[in-house]
Amino acid sequence: MKHGKRVGIVGAGNVGATVAYSLAMLGSCHEIILRDNKIDVAKGKALDMSQAASAVRSHTVVKVAETMEDLVNCDVIVVTAGSPRLPGMSRDDLLMINAKITKEVVQGIAKYSPDAIIIMVSNPLDAMTYVALKESGFDRSRVLGMAGILDSSRMSAFIQEKLGYGGGQIRASVMGGHGDDMVPLPRYSTVAGVPLTDVLSDEEISEIVDRTRHGGAEIVGHLKTGSAYYAPAKSTAIMVEAILKDTKQIHPCAVFLEGEYGFTNVVSGVPVMLGANGAEKIIEVTLNDKEKVMFQNSCSSVQNLINTLNTHNFFEEK
Ligand code: 2OP
Repeated sequence: MKHGKRVGIVGAGNVGATVAYSLAMLGSCHEIILRDNKIDVAKGKALDMSQAASAVRSHTVVKVAETMEDLVNCDVIVVTAGSPRLPGMSRDDLLMINAKITKEVVQGIAKYSPDAIIIMVSNPLDAMTYVALKESGFDRSRVLGMAGILDSSRMSAFIQEKLGYGGGQIRASVMGGHGDDMVPLPRYSTVAGVPLTDVLSDEEISEIVDRTRHGGAEIVGHLKTGSAYYAPAKSTAIMVEAILKDTKQIHPCAVFLEGEYGFTNVVSGVPVMLGANGAEKIIEVTLNDKEKVMFQNSCSSVQNLINTLNTHNFFEEK
């Protein structure tokens, strides 16, 4: 029997568990169901989180799905399952291994939670979102990827560090794929409404842009045995909340493009209005020639990954 909103999370590692914890603290859903091959670890985390929810008087209960069959009737399913990015490994190295995992998981989601909205988090993010769309057969409005909120948050943290003021008032904008050629947009970034270009020099801005592009690798370099999870998880929880609460707010998300920005049959990060139906509207921002070229390069990188999958007949194999 289902009461209230139910969120499924596939992969209860650092990112998945922190998404669950974040949502449990917010109390925005009734149930969170963790699915992980390490069932006992997932059970321990679920109990721990339900108890934390109880401590803050949140009504959210965290449970475990022992098989995909138990992941039924979810409103939103977050997919973090996959091999993590290890030191020296690019996001693209993960392509084939994570594509296979994503295919299996998403086929299960389509079977047991056919009305869910899928949020992909596994890397390489844009290609995995593409795989999830093709393998689920869902409308593109119900298959999203998390990356833009994370990359924009990294950029705003770097702006704050550089400026030494403005914390909490910075709006940074990053579009394109979640890769080294993502497209940070200083022209559309502000501090309390003041354009970034008015408070920082070109050189300072280019340092921030570069650091944003390598923000994930910087953290891997410190952690050594894994990649970031607090900011990725919080960014995912923000998307889940926007959907569950039907906020109609705009967030940068990875979606399948059907002509927007002049691209088709590729996934990339663009501003999206999120609501109860998922990606309810794609916003087309005016880009200048230089930004258009960067966006095009980013889409080409994602397209190359999709081509690699096609070369391996990935979408034909069942
Ligand atoms: C990150 O950006 C690994 O893509 C992940 O932190």
